Amino acid sequence: MAEQKNVGILLVAFGSARPAARAAIANMEREVEKVFPDAALFLAFTSSIVRGRLAKEDRPVDSPQEALCRMQEQGFSEILVQSLHVIPGGEYEGLQKTVRAFAEQAGGAISVKLGRPLLCTHEDILELCRILPALLPPYEDEGDAVLLMGHGTSHASNIYYPGIQYYLWQQSPRYWIATVEGYPALQDILPMLKEKRIRRVWLEPFLAVAGNHVLDDMAGDKPDSWKSILEAEGYQVHPVLKGLAEYKEIAWLWISHLKECTEAHSL
Ligand code: CO
Repeated sequence: MAEQKNVGILLVAFGSARPAARAAIANMEREVEKVFPDAALFLAFTSSIVRGRLAKEDRPVDSPQEALCRMQEQGFSEILVQSLHVIPGGEYEGLQKTVRAFAEQAGGAISVKLGRPLLCTHEDILELCRILPALLPPYEDEGDAVLLMGHGTSHASNIYYPGIQYYLWQQSPRYWIATVEGYPALQDILPMLKEKRIRRVWLEPFLAVAGNHVLDDMAGDKPDSWKSILEAEGYQVHPVLKGLAEYKEIAWLWISHLKECTEAHSL
């Protein structure tokens, strides 16, 4: 019994209380189960606000720390943690600290590994840009554009967003990325859309799940949503309500990081 390898996988997302966000998490779980059929799956959300809301609705989700303790109590000898964050920002840094502290506390009795977010390395971003065109709406007219909505952060890692823009432009001059809470903002992109004589804009989440930012800030009917702002500027707007983790091909990129961390020391 003691010799038996007992693997638990913990998926960690920022989280969302919106039912629409569930599809992305469910897709990730399904894809992880295919690759690791013998592992037990656990889920944690890093946002305490989201966890509080879910607890009130009687749908509690653990914090990463709570989930790790639960897994320890259940006797897993190997714990793999996969970040479902998009870039290595503040949320991921917090998760790294939690996982390191847990591994130290377990004192070598449990093997603990952490898989990096969707986009960390040059290769990650190249791979995403390779996958993306097949998933985005087909190019029909030179007046068409795709605008990705990223989160953005006050953390130094915000540089990933303008960085990713550079990679996207290697794919197509009609791809743009802007953020809700960082740089570039939607206002920074508007003059470029005008200059390129864009007429139709597809709005695509560059977020793991379709939660508040997607449903309200991107595609909502309030006057300051991206959809409303772009429509007021005269664009035809088509919001796509699908989080990145809902696409099988992108889920695989996250899972490739999980597989990698089983092979290497990556804490
Ligand atoms: Co936010």
